[in-house]
Amino acid sequence: MSKQLDGQVVLVTGAGSGIGRATAELAASAGATVICTDVKAADETAAAITAAGGTAEGHELDVRERSVWQAVATETVEKYGRIDCLCQVAGIVSPTADTVVDLTEDGWNLILDIDLKGMWLGMQAVIPAMMKAGGGKVVNVSSVAALIGMQNTAAYAAAKGGIIGISRQTAIQYAAEKIRVNVIAPGTIETPILGDIPQELYDAMIAGTPAGRLGTPDDVAAMAVHLLGPGGDFITGQTFVIDGGWTAH
Ligand SMILES: NC(=O)c1ccc[n+]([C@@H]2O[C@H](COP(=O)([O-])OP(=O)(O)OC[C@H]3O[C@@H](n4cnc5c(N)ncnc54)[C@H](O)[C@@H]3O)[C@@H](O)[C@H]2O)c1
Repeated sequence: MSKQLDGQVVLVTGAGSGIGRATAELAASAGATVICTDVKAADETAAAITAAGGTAEGHELDVRERSVWQAVATETVEKYGRIDCLCQVAGIVSPTADTVVDLTEDGWNLILDIDLKGMWLGMQAVIPAMMKAGGGKVVNVSSVAALIGMQNTAAYAAAKGGIIGISRQTAIQYAAEKIRVNVIAPGTIETPILGDIPQELYDAMIAGTPAGRLGTPDDVAAMAVHLLGPGGDFITGQTFVIDGGWTAH
């Protein structure tokens, strides 16, 4: 039986942890060759995929580094002939205060560089190869923080909102080249990015989620793989919220 991503070459950023790792693993089990990239642990994810019988390789890639993006894209095309799918998951939340009043310029630049500029650099490195190959799929991970106001997320919300804007524009720009570009906006997903949450806040987050639980990396990976596969052929320029109904009320 054929699988959703049989024969596809899929490059995933942030593949060392959380949602990126789950997406890399699910893409591999859906038949893809997965190029796992991250600033850390990309090799570990690739090794886990290979051990499970899939095909993957790991690359150290800081999404802020244009020259590294170009090198990984070139190497992948030389080795596999093309890059069919790009799934950009890498991101951080602010390690310091993230309010308009308290943000430092360094703090702003850090978030905007990793969470937004990195998305542009990734698409700039990979879309030309997709155009040459006759098409491709891009999924960029934003956040519900782009859609509703949340405490302590000023730079983060600006970056995540920017992802929706640039993705929609890129979807229109390259639609005729059969390139599909979509966004996933997760709600609260249980990954290391959450850090140590006080039990009270954790319980309140669950209570505020109509589905009655927080999300898992697999919940998000399932949508990413759907959009990267044939299910995404006629979908472009859209944002998909995966939050258990949190923003629905
Ligand atoms: N977990 C959530 O609740 C949640 C909610 C909304 C959006 N998101 C978004 O989902 C994405 C994945 O987050 P996660 O929850 O899996 O967190 P995570 O911390 O488990 O994974 C993030 C990964 O990004 C990598 N990364 C950080 N800076 C990088 C850089 N400069 N270059 C390359 N890789 C880098 C990290 O090494 C890490 O492996 C992020 O973009 C995050 O903003 C997460």
